[in-house]
Amino acid sequence: MKASRREVDGFAGGGGSTTVPANAVSYRIPRNDVAVPVILLGAPGAGKGTQAKRIAARYAIPQISTGDILRENVVRNTELGQKAKAVMERGELVSDDLVLPMVADRLCQPDCAQGFILDGFPRTVRQAEWLDEFLRSHDFGGQKVPPVVVSINVGYNQLLQRLTGRRSCPIDQKIYNIYLQPPKSDCVCDLCGTQLVQRKDDREEVISERLQSYQRQTLPLVDYYRRQGRLREINGEFPADQVTAETFAAIQESAAGGA
Ligand code: AP5
Repeated sequence: MKASRREVDGFAGGGGSTTVPANAVSYRIPRNDVAVPVILLGAPGAGKGTQAKRIAARYAIPQISTGDILRENVVRNTELGQKAKAVMERGELVSDDLVLPMVADRLCQPDCAQGFILDGFPRTVRQAEWLDEFLRSHDFGGQKVPPVVVSINVGYNQLLQRLTGRRSCPIDQKIYNIYLQPPKSDCVCDLCGTQLVQRKDDREEVISERLQSYQRQTLPLVDYYRRQGRLREINGEFPADQVTAETFAAIQESAAGGA
């Protein structure tokens, strides 16, 4: 399918809570007081990585991006990277026999003890079931705290603009968008002056496959977590700061209520 600007089933633009202004959140979860696993759901380009970095900074917990870990392995040319490279360049999902041990290994690192943010995982119902079992059988900070699941909803046309316009700094990983969040100077990082790069899978023909794979394999997770009563939906079409405020509010409410 050729990616084009249009409306597509499953890409609900906006939706979810729209009531929390950017400056109106009081952060009641004391840092490091509770181990909060946060799962960010959303289509490619919805803003999971952008928000995950802010949550990580706010709660001092690590961002675990399966996409970033896989890309690092590709760059380092590890065995995992060699196996994943072609699959990722086609925009398809990497197989569970590679992804699940990689996630298990990362979640067992000491920095996850006080909580973590999963960005890009789980991506299928099978991965979600695996994660449920993993969280049931492991303590984090001596506790078993159910995850907070935040779904960031963005419409198809906005996703296309975000993905085709995305550029990032290879040094500090800061994410920009040449249309929506441009750097101060043409295509160089505001922080370190390095030339920004475009991801290989942000080419239009690959974007199309990624969005289809999302619809087919990942969208069912919204119902999976809704049935568990732990889904919070956020309108991801607002400016990033407002999405952040709503995301913090959702995490805070869910963690306080245990759901
Ligand atoms: P991954 O790296 O996870 O990519 P993705 O899910 O496709 O998500 P993206 O990173 O593209 O988007 P994002 O939601 O993080 O958006 P961002 O914040 O960057 O996965 C890549 C590949 O790895 C997969 O295709 C697969 O092959 C493999 N893989 C990964 N996990 C796997 C798993 N669990 N199982 C199997 N395979 C797996 O934002 C996008 C752009 O929008 C940026 O330019 C940003 O500046 C801009 N933007 C963000 N928020 C806003 C806003 N509110 N307003 C305006 N612009 C905004």
